Amino acid sequence: MKKQRLDKFISNQLLLSRSIVRTGILKGRATVNGVVVRNVGEIIDADSDCVTYEGNTVGYREYIYILMNKPKGVLSAATDKSRKTVVDLVPQSIRRQGLFPVGRLDKDTTGLLLITDDGVFAHNCISPKKEISKSYVVTLDGDINDGMIKVFNEGVVLADGTVCKSAKLERISENVARIIITEGKYHQIKRMFGTVGLGVNDLRRESIGGLTIPDTLKEGECIEMTKEQLENSIFYR
Ligand code: URA
Repeated sequence: MKKQRLDKFISNQLLLSRSIVRTGILKGRATVNGVVVRNVGEIIDADSDCVTYEGNTVGYREYIYILMNKPKGVLSAATDKSRKTVVDLVPQSIRRQGLFPVGRLDKDTTGLLLITDDGVFAHNCISPKKEISKSYVVTLDGDINDGMIKVFNEGVVLADGTVCKSAKLERISENVARIIITEGKYHQIKRMFGTVGLGVNDLRRESIGGLTIPDTLKEGECIEMTKEQLENSIFYR
């Protein structure tokens, strides 16, 4: 049973300050099982009571799983003193404490980023041992040749001696390619192309382990993973 105070429950679930929530509750903005409750310390059962705040249901789920279409210019981090993070972009209706991005995309990389508060899920997704495929579309400042496809397939050795696992490189046009990697070393794709003398002009992640960005999800937007997506995903517990 998840018994707790109404003000604490709403503020934790929606990541709102306790004082703002208290004021809201006193103004009649919270309901429990359809009845307006103005007692900030009301004890509710998060498993069975239906709580709303400002008209939205405040649901209790142990964990939350979010797909984001990350825009450029935003940091893949939970918090930062001055810069905007991906967690700042999560709408209040699905925001809660403990959210963090699953792995990192560079500030200038766009595309699919998962955000959760489930550490096991995140580990399963990013652990190199699990070899989850991550597919990116990369635009380069020069042309791709067959030699690069071969070198990437054999496993690139980065400038500092780090050995990368085999990666699949598919040419889309002269300077645009799809690259599929199964690990996530720091700036990996930029460093891999650096070894063949190419710079990355644009990088977008299109899928992780078969999960893709819904067509309707614009850059900067996020959506909760459906139950079906979650249960079908290879990194779900
Ligand atoms: N590789 C990179 O170089 N950058 C990213 O953001 C992701 C993979």
